[in-house]
Order: sequence, then structure tokens, then C-alpha cells
Amino acid sequence: MDVSGKVALVTGGAVRVGRAVALGLAAAGAHLALHYHRSADAAQETVSEARRLGVDAVAFQANLANPEEAWALARAAEAHFGRVDIIVHSASPFVRASLSGTTPELWRQVLGVLVDGFLVLARELTPGMVARREGGIVVILDRGTLDPWPDFLAHSVGKSALWALARNLAVELAPHVRVNGVVPGPVLPPPDYPEEEKVRIAQSTLLGRWGHPQDVVEAVLFLLRSDYITGEVLFVDGGERWAHRRPVGLRQTL
Ligand SMILES: NC(=O)c1ccc[n+]([C@@H]2O[C@H](COP(=O)([O-])OP(=O)(O)OC[C@H]3O[C@@H](n4cnc5c(N)ncnc54)[C@H](OP(=O)(O)O)[C@@H]3O)[C@@H](O)[C@H]2O)c1
Repeated sequence: MDVSGKVALVTGGAVRVGRAVALGLAAAGAHLALHYHRSADAAQETVSEARRLGVDAVAFQANLANPEEAWALARAAEAHFGRVDIIVHSASPFVRASLSGTTPELWRQVLGVLVDGFLVLARELTPGMVARREGGIVVILDRGTLDPWPDFLAHSVGKSALWALARNLAVELAPHVRVNGVVPGPVLPPPDYPEEEKVRIAQSTLLGRWGHPQDVVEAVLFLLRSDYITGEVLFVDGGERWAHRRPVGLRQTL
């Protein structure tokens, strides 16, 4: 896929990693349907920056846990641009709660954004991709996708379900729409993250350091451009998932 001139919908695209992906797509020449939930000012800033890169960009607000708002987002994006060729689903509430703290409301909110909202976007936007015989979807996952992460129960289950959904869509929508996932490792700490935690997490990767949102951008662009890859997941995690296999003397943090 040549990303240039395509229309990309990026969910959660106003801030942080989602913003980097949105601007990476804009820098590659894609027009931008930029979704946000609460970060209205940041969304406008990101849209302005994308326009300075020479593409059309519009911000759309939606709570993706509400299927009607997800549906309206898809309709509004298609109405403005006439088409959507790419979806990057990055929006993701990050809520620490194990079983006892996971209320039905929290569960619905987190899985609503990760799974239900994405399902609605895919249902609404992939028929156009199929008709045009070209489309690319990338879902942004994380370490909870394949491994249990009971401190973030809903998040972990939601990411696993999102990846299951994406794999199913890769099969159903082939050959013209490709669906892949990226599993970032630690690429951007929350703003007030304690220094000692940052060090501990850096050491929990094989490469001994944090990555950068741009590492995720490169992976997303690679998957969109790689016409012979679908139903695949790409880890961009500094080897975090293999760190427990290090020889005992090297396992500083385990
Ligand atoms: N940061 C990392 O190191 C890291 C590591 C692994 C994976 N990831 C993945 O990368 C992606 C972005 O991570 P991040 O750290 O940049 O995220 P973040 O700072 O936690 O931002 C959360 C994003 O989700 C959106 N969102 C939250 N609730 C929503 C709702 N109800 N409806 C629609 N959107 C909603 C937010 O939109 P608004 O701000 O507009 O409200 C925001 O864009 C996520 O999928 C995350 O799992 C990040």
C-alpha cells in the first residue's frame, strides 16, 4: 500500500503514542481523520500540525465505548473525506484494577473502547475498503495481549479480545484488506512516572532501555506498506517478553 494520498482514521490520535502515529501517517502523505475522546485542545493542535505537513486533517470526537458514537464517527469521517482506507486503533483506557476492583461498569468501558468501538468502525468502514479492493488496519496492542496481566484485568482481556477480533478480520477481509497488530513495549511513560520505575522498566527489556513512540510509528507504517503481511503481530518491545529467559546472573530486576 502506498500510504500517500490515502485517508487514515487514527483513534486516540490526539495525544502521546496515538498522536505520533497520526503525525507519522500525515508525514507519509495520508489525510487524517483524527479521533479523540476528551483531549479536544490537543486534537486541534495535532490537526494543525498535520495540515502543516500538507494533508487534509479533521478532528472527530467520540466515546468509543458507546457504539452509537463509534458509528457516528465512522459516518462523519467518510462524509468528510469520501472514503477511509486505513484504520489505526490506538485508543485504549489504561485502568489499573484486578478482579476485586473490576466493576461491570469499568469492564464495559474498557472493553467497549478496545473491542466494541473497533468492531463498529470495522463494520462501517471496511465495506468501502473491500469495494475499492484496498485497505489497511493496524490495532495497537500491548504485553497484556498474549500474557495475563491481572493488575490490569479488563485492559489485558480487552487487548486479547481485540487481537482475536483483528485476526478474524484478517481472514474474513482478505485478500484486499490486511489486518495486523503492533505490540509496543515501554515507549512512553505517563507524565508523572517515578524515575526509579522508569529505570526498573528499562532493565526489564533485553535492550535495557525505553523505546520511543517513533518506534511504533515505524512499525505501523511498515505493516501498512507490506502487501504480503496480514494477520500478523509485530512486537516493538525491546525484547521485553524474553527478558525472563536471560541467564540468571543477568536478570537484574526479576
Ligand atoms: N505508552 C506506552 O509505553 C505503551 C506501551 C504499550 C502499549 N501502548 C499502547 O499504545 C496506545 C497509546 O498509548 P498511550 O500511552 O499513548 O495512551 P494514553 O496516554 O493512555 O491515552 C489513552 C488514549 O485512549 C483514548 N481514550 C480513552 N478512553 C476513551 C474512550 N472512552 N473513547 C475513546 N477514546 C478513549 C484517549 O483519548 P483522549 O485523550 O482524547 O481522551 C487517549 O488517546 C494504547 O493502545 C496503549 O495500550 C502504549
